[in-house]
Amino acid sequence: MTSQNNPTPKEAWGKLILLGEHAVVYGHTALAGAMDRGIRTTITSESFSGPSRLRVPAWNIDLHSEDCHPVAYAFRAILEKADALGGRAFTIRAKANIAPAAGLGSSAALCVAIARCFSHSLEETTRWANAGEACFHDSPSGVDVALSAQGGIGTYCKTTGFSALSCPSLPLVVALSGVDRSTADMVRGVASRLKANPGLTALLEDIATTTLTGKRALLDGNWEVLGACMNQCQRNLSDLGVSLNTLDTMVATAMNAGALGAKLTGAGGGGAIIALAPGRESEVATALRQQGFTSFITTLGHSE
Ligand code: MEV
Repeated sequence: MTSQNNPTPKEAWGKLILLGEHAVVYGHTALAGAMDRGIRTTITSESFSGPSRLRVPAWNIDLHSEDCHPVAYAFRAILEKADALGGRAFTIRAKANIAPAAGLGSSAALCVAIARCFSHSLEETTRWANAGEACFHDSPSGVDVALSAQGGIGTYCKTTGFSALSCPSLPLVVALSGVDRSTADMVRGVASRLKANPGLTALLEDIATTTLTGKRALLDGNWEVLGACMNQCQRNLSDLGVSLNTLDTMVATAMNAGALGAKLTGAGGGGAIIALAPGRESEVATALRQQGFTSFITTLGHSE
């Protein structure tokens, strides 16, 4: 396989989980969508010597595939899966317009965009990107890679994969807490709390039920019910120990500014919140900005 087959920039989207994070790790269904921002990769050079190099200037990353760094491990895993090297070395430049470690699927988007430099099918992209993603998170559910590669809005379950939903794109407010965290640590934390207190599985089951109700509400365009589902999911995630005072404050700010629902998105412990505020997105984004949080309005369900 040669990079000449894929000389054009390759794109991958960031994702937002609307409902169902953490429960999806335990086989339940999540409801999620791709954002209209993500990562674009280009192979900028190819040679016959030296290790391959990955540059992500927006994240201050410039490393080689042999380096001891989680991103280098993921880079190497994808190159190996893709059998891309064949005695050659590549320099890949990634242009990122999503924040890293913020619950927006940045690592999955990077893995998908790298895999796309070499892959010839969605199946290859997904398989290779998942090999890279496993270097960041011990046992990812696969939801981030699926959304990043396929775009749109849909449900994701570990056993059945991604199912696209036919519904209009959804404007959402996103706000960043500025607190970095590791998804792997958050998932491990939930696992140890569940082991210590098996009764907490009821929270995962409630998240699963709420996700299915939210899916129906999304399809019906019933924003009040969808917002209520987001609030219920946030309560469960908080009881599961993955929210933070900062996230709770951000959620309260969004609700006070007129959102119908607001919750952390992704692994929690920092990262981002999302808010559903039909017709009041600007007011909610401004209220969050006034509290010092970076916020923006995005369209969930991006696929071009
Ligand atoms: C991370 O974006 C979502 C989690 O459910 C982990 C996973 O699904 O792998 C917390």
